[in-house]
Amino acid sequence: MPTVDLDREKSIEVEDLELTLLQISRGAGIPHASACGGHAQCSTCRVRILEHPEHLQPRNAKETRLAEAKGFGDDIRLACQTRITGSVRLRRLVIDEEDLQIASDGTAQTIGKDRTLAILFSDIRDFTSFAESHLPYDVMHILGRYFRTMGDAVLRHHGYIDKYMGDGIMALFGLERATPVEACLDAVAAGLTMLDHLGELNRYLTKQFDTEFRIGIGVHVGSVIVGEMGHPRKMQFTAIGDAVNVASRIESATKEIGVGLAVSDDVRVLLGDAARYGVSRPINLKGKTGEHLLSEVVGLEVDVPEAAALSTLVP
Ligand code: FES
Repeated sequence: MPTVDLDREKSIEVEDLELTLLQISRGAGIPHASACGGHAQCSTCRVRILEHPEHLQPRNAKETRLAEAKGFGDDIRLACQTRITGSVRLRRLVIDEEDLQIASDGTAQTIGKDRTLAILFSDIRDFTSFAESHLPYDVMHILGRYFRTMGDAVLRHHGYIDKYMGDGIMALFGLERATPVEACLDAVAAGLTMLDHLGELNRYLTKQFDTEFRIGIGVHVGSVIVGEMGHPRKMQFTAIGDAVNVASRIESATKEIGVGLAVSDDVRVLLGDAARYGVSRPINLKGKTGEHLLSEVVGLEVDVPEAAALSTLVP
């Protein structure tokens, strides 16, 4: 019977040649990292083949794509994609103490679902100088009221409040919705509602604290990976990916364009005539190559159904 010799520790007899190397090692009780859940979208399950590479099935299309992107040599294989035809000897590569802990306690299994989402970032302009010129407890009180008001706008439009960063908010749209168009409509509707609510909040701030806020909101749509991340005792559902970074940069650029709500061209293409646009400008986004066309959104031409009740959405 063929065997898989792993890390010089264990020799596993393999009856079923349909199993992948990852299934074989896990089946033998060996902690084996697999951050993407076995979908050829990470490199944590990779192994180095030490003997008999000829006893492996060739790379499939998914593994080939990732191996080319990462520049893997022929001796590096993704355990989740590789099946044997005879005995092999190999070594796991992502195996320090913490990796093994993550692999064995299952926290890595909560990471990694590909989704197309609309991502919204908002920020209060010149917040630092505002905070410096007001009493800390007043700042806390005002921020609490601000987050509540803006958070309501996100939840009202089927959004998920991903996190607060100082005075900034990151929100995700599309977790509950069927299509990227719906996700964009929700995100833009939430952004417009936030600007609307800001007017009411500013009336209160002017009266009570002799101040008012201006905010910038950026919306982008794209592919992200969503999942629980963080320390096992404080995990948080979030999204990561380049689309998140782009949304954040668009929010920063709203200051340069001088608008309250700006969307990427990808969002504009999806929304088409469903939105009314104001200023449009090609902008160099920090850390990104080339120019990106950003468009101000001033209104929607369609009714976007609101959530029946405000709820903290947990996907
Ligand atoms: S588990 Fe992610 S590529 Fe194998």
